[in-house]
Parts: sequence; structure tokens; C-alpha cells
Amino acid sequence: MIIVLIGYMASGKSTIGKRLAKKLNYNFIDLDDLIESKENASVSEVFKSKGEIYFRKQEALYLREQLQSKEDIILSVGGGTPCYSNNMDAILGAENVKSVYLKASIPTLIEKLMKKKATRPLIAHIETEEAMGEFIGKHLFERAYYYNQANVKVSIDGRSKKEVTKDVFDSLF
Ligand code: S3P
Repeated sequence: MIIVLIGYMASGKSTIGKRLAKKLNYNFIDLDDLIESKENASVSEVFKSKGEIYFRKQEALYLREQLQSKEDIILSVGGGTPCYSNNMDAILGAENVKSVYLKASIPTLIEKLMKKKATRPLIAHIETEEAMGEFIGKHLFERAYYYNQANVKVSIDGRSKKEVTKDVFDSLF
């Protein structure tokens, strides 16, 4: 089976994905890491040198490649992945694939992203919590349409990594 973890930036897709992969003895693949190794550059560098449109093309391409996998994998995708290039339809339509939305409230995301914005080109320039909240509020409103199509939704608010991993596991099996 392929389990695709989706959700906003800093919702824990990679962390939970790695834990789940260990628990299930599946391979773990992070789509951003894959793009970085194929491009031999960080996501921020790709955005800067080749632009977001190029990044979105590569993202859609490597997502489709992974969705063809015949092995059991946990695939963590970028926060924007489900929202471009009909990617959510590709995820929902692929064989043997389950999608999980790791859902976080705006206050949780503000707290996490103020600490982790540096490597994320879409928000790296945001300086105050207030501005971060305003940005996330609008962005999440647009993106929720895609995220909410996931097969399973799990809230991360106030929960430990261990609890979230267990919730994801229990809701899938
Ligand atoms: C993006 C999220 C990032 C990365 C890129 C764009 C987005 O991944 O793909 O910076 O559009 O939300 P994470 O969700 O892992 O931060």
C-alpha cells in the first residue's frame, strides 16, 4: 500500500511519516527530499533559481512516479502538492493508495512556522506572528478544499508525535 501524508507546512508530515514507516516496516519517501536530490539543490534554491512554476512541475512529475510504486511506501508530500496540477485527483485515483490529512489549527501552525520558516520560501519573509497568522489564514482557506478530500483526517493539535502516529495507524487499519 502507498500511504500519502498531506497537510500544511509544519504539520508533521515527515516526522509522522518516518514513525509510521518504522511501525509498518514500509519505506519512507519525502517528496521535497526527492526533488532536492534530483535537482541537487534545496527547495529554496530551486524556487530562487528556477521559479515556483518549475518546482510545481517537478513536484507533479515525481509525485506521479511515486504513485506508481509497487512497494509499500509512506510518502510525505509538500504542503502545496495536493493543490496544484490536479495532484489531489492523481492521489485519489491511484491504485492501492490511502491519503491522510494531518490537520493543524492556525495557532498551532503559527507557533511551529515562526520557528521553521527559514527553509520555506513561501513564508521565509514573514516577520511577525500577526502577519504569519494572516498569511496562514488565507492560504489554508484556499488549500483546505484539497486537503479535506483525503481519505482520513487526523488532528495534530495538542497531541504528541506518538499519539498522532497511533491515530493515523488506527484510522487506516
Ligand atoms: C510548500 C511546502 C514545502 C515545500 C515548498 C512549498 C507549500 O513543503 O514543498 O516550500 O507550497 O506549502 P513542507 O510542507 O514540507 O514544508
